Amino acid sequence: MTTNQNPPIYTGDIAEQHIDPSKEYSAENQELVFSAEQNSIWAELFAGIHQPYLLEHLCQEYINGLALLELDPYKIPTVAHLNERITSRTGWRIERTAIRYTLADDWYKKFAQRIFLITDYLRTRDQIEFTPEPDMFHDIFGHLPFLTQEFYARIEDKFAPAYMNATQAEREVIKRLAWYSTEFGLVMENNRIKVFGAGIISGRAELANTVMEFYRLGRDNVIDYSKDVFKQLQENFLANEQDVYRIIDGVNELHQKGQMSSGEQGWNVVRALYEKLGISRAGYFGGEVILAPFSVETISKIPKTVYAFNPMFFVAESLEQMDAVLDSFLKPIALRNEK
Ligand SMILES: [Fe+2]
Repeated sequence: MTTNQNPPIYTGDIAEQHIDPSKEYSAENQELVFSAEQNSIWAELFAGIHQPYLLEHLCQEYINGLALLELDPYKIPTVAHLNERITSRTGWRIERTAIRYTLADDWYKKFAQRIFLITDYLRTRDQIEFTPEPDMFHDIFGHLPFLTQEFYARIEDKFAPAYMNATQAEREVIKRLAWYSTEFGLVMENNRIKVFGAGIISGRAELANTVMEFYRLGRDNVIDYSKDVFKQLQENFLANEQDVYRIIDGVNELHQKGQMSSGEQGWNVVRALYEKLGISRAGYFGGEVILAPFSVETISKIPKTVYAFNPMFFVAESLEQMDAVLDSFLKPIALRNEK
């Protein structure tokens, strides 16, 4: 068995599926035999991202972890190999799941035990450039290098205890915080914006588009990279805050209508919004994605939009700042006694 028989239907949010223990992998059958075609898709995806012009924009935490994980560029790794590289370093364990997109409640139950699930599904060749759902390549290449790293493990450790204790409304915010940090987060490093989120890292087109936005901000004189970049980002965000929130409202509306998830609409679904709202596509809004400072307040306003169609990315001032912002929301909930 290599793939789940029933592909999810994408309506609004990605269809999430419950773990059915009777259909799940056991400790004995974690390892799968991959076809030559699957290994060749893996190799193509790996080579597409393993490009100097892209790697230089990934955060150091990821680069360090990628070296430690020792992935084979030509072959999908075994679960044993991944655990051998990860567990001794951070205590996290990898487990195979038959689920293609696990329901958050199930996911966080595993998370609480420091188990990171990787799906058995790998995108097909015609989805090399885009797949709306996280596949094995996303899980392994995007997330697992980070799981060798203390800091990332510490970040991941925060989510489950809070999620288990949270109200429904808080759970929605927690999912968004995870989405816009570990999946689609950006972080400052040596006064440069670097990619942190696994969802960006594991998609060549989205990664390249994101990197192009960094340059676009320089080209259009929105940000002067010889000065304090994060400060300028904050100033730009504050100067345009009202329009950013109007765009977020528009995104919420589209999201509720299920219009943030179709392949045809693509990454630039916000473009039509600018027009509708009469916001000119120039300066801070001149690109294809809006970069905003990482904050609970803003993130809690914007829905988790489907993989690769994110209209906004959030930039943390440093990994420590991301840590502190997450703590400010997650810790009080994790420490709360009653549900
Ligand atoms: Fe992910």
